[in-house]
Amino acid sequence: MIEIRQFGWSDYDAVVAVWAAAGREVVPRAELAAKLTRDPELFLVAETDADVAGVVMGTYDGRRGWILRLAVRPEHRRRGIAGQLVGELERRFRLLDCPRVNLLVMPDNEAGLRFWQALGYLPMPDVLCTKPM
Ligand SMILES: CC(C)(COP(=O)(O)OP(=O)(O)OC[C@H]1O[C@@H](n2cnc3c(N)ncnc32)[C@H](O)[C@@H]1OP(=O)(O)O)[C@@H](O)C(=O)NCCC(=O)NCCS
Repeated sequence: MIEIRQFGWSDYDAVVAVWAAAGREVVPRAELAAKLTRDPELFLVAETDADVAGVVMGTYDGRRGWILRLAVRPEHRRRGIAGQLVGELERRFRLLDCPRVNLLVMPDNEAGLRFWQALGYLPMPDVLCTKPM
């Protein structure tokens, strides 16, 4: 039985473990606290047997939604957990009247690209540019 629900701080260590097991960068507590002042309802976990099996972080800037840090523990993959997390996040984006959702995938992440394409997210030719502040 999988429950998709909003993140709470008591989940933090389990979420860090999911990101680490999936080889994803961990969001530090201070960064997460700043994000949660804006749209806490867009940071979701998948709970199974009182454990966190997956996580996804959405953000909405008023114009575009973004999907970040999606990860599912390796032993729970191919059971539809990521699909359920993204489905619930999309439902919440629609409630905010968000017209388009973007995300970033590394070009060598074949599983990630196949997953997103299966859900209708298509690659764009744009190149990511970034600068620390
Ligand atoms: C990508 C990831 C989140 C998928 O999680 P998941 O819970 O296994 O995904 P789902 O079970 O919901 O998969 C839904 C569909 O996506 C596609 N898919 C998912 N993983 C796939 C893989 N490894 N290879 C090919 N297709 C895949 C399939 O079409 C799948 O449907 P199917 O199982 O009926 O064939 C997981 O593999 C993961 O955590 N990877 C490491 C982190 C990562 O790459 N995150 C996403 C990048 S932004």
